[in-house]
Amino acid sequence: MKELSLHILDIAQNSIAAGAKHVDLTVEEGEGLLRITVADDGRGMSPEFLASVTDPFTTTRTTRKVGLGLPLLRLAAEQTGGGLRVESRLGVGTTVTAAFRADHIDCPPLGDTASTVSLLAQGLPEGMELTYTRRTPRGEFRFDTAEIRAVLGPDVPLSEPEVAEWMRGYVAEGEEGLA
Ligand SMILES: Nc1ncnc2c1ncn2[C@@H]1O[C@H](COP(=O)(O)OP(=O)(O)OP(=O)(O)O)[C@@H](O)[C@H]1O
Ligand SMILES: [Mg+2]
Repeated sequence: MKELSLHILDIAQNSIAAGAKHVDLTVEEGEGLLRITVADDGRGMSPEFLASVTDPFTTTRTTRKVGLGLPLLRLAAEQTGGGLRVESRLGVGTTVTAAFRADHIDCPPLGDTASTVSLLAQGLPEGMELTYTRRTPRGEFRFDTAEIRAVLGPDVPLSEPEVAEWMRGYVAEGEEGLA
C-alpha cells in the first residue's frame, strides 16, 4: 500500500468486524520512529490463532481464503527495519502496533490521516466509538467521537456529510499544529 493511512483503515476495519465498542488509534512520531497503534475491546483471538495471524493464510473470512491486512502491514513495517506486534486476549481485545523507521527510504508516507479518521467515524456501527491520538515532539492532538456526539446531540449522525467534512477539517487543523 502506498500510504500508511490505508493500512490504518484496514486494521481498524478488523476491530469493527471484531465487534469492538471502542477503537483507539494512535500515531506517534519521534526519535526516527513512526508508531501506529490500533487498540480495541473486541472479541480478541485465541493464543493459537494469534500465533499465526500475521501469516497470509490465516483468516476467518468466508469469501476468500487469505487475509492480507496484518501480513501486509507486517511486511511494510519490516521493510523499513521496524516490525509488527499483535497482542490479543479472547473476549478482552486486541492491540496491533506497527513501528516504522521513519527515515528509511522504504517508509511509506503517512498519507491523509484526517480523511481516514473522518471516514472511520462516519462509518462507525451503532454503539461504537473511536478515538484518534496524534503525538509528535511538538505536542498531542486528540479526537474522540463520543465528545463530538455529545456536542452534536443525539439527532445528528456522524455520517451526515457536513459533519463528516467538519470532522476531517478539525483533525487536519489539529494535526497541522503538530507538524
Ligand atoms: N482486531 C481484531 N480482533 C479480533 N480478530 C482479529 C482482529 N484483527 C484480525 N483478526 C483476525 O485475524 C484475521 C486476519 O486479519 P487480516 O486483517 O490479516 O485479514 P482479514 O481481515 O481476514 O482479511 P483482509 O484484511 O485482507 O480483508 C481476521 O480474519 C480475524 O479473524
Ligand atoms: Mg483485515
